[in-house]
Amino acid sequence: MQNEPILFKSLKLELEPGIYYWCSCADNFELVICDSSHKDCVPLQFEITEKRLRSYCTCKQTKTPPFCDGTHKEINALNFPE
Ligand code: FES
Repeated sequence: MQNEPILFKSLKLELEPGIYYWCSCADNFELVICDSSHKDCVPLQFEITEKRLRSYCTCKQTKTPPFCDGTHKEINALNFPE
């Protein structure tokens, strides 16, 4: 059975200042903040120093983790050609 293509979009969060771990698991597109359920991947530690709304990557292909850099739009264009 073939997996259905996923329409990716970033997740906007306004996190309090502190240390967080971005979920880098390639097969978990719903998690942004690590829940320690990983088996074969390493979460990315990052620090928020100022509370403000930011876009976090859910496609796990960003070049600027944990933040969305727009790469998901290229993936969506490949998965859903017009
Ligand atoms: S969700 Fe935008 S780059 Fe991953």
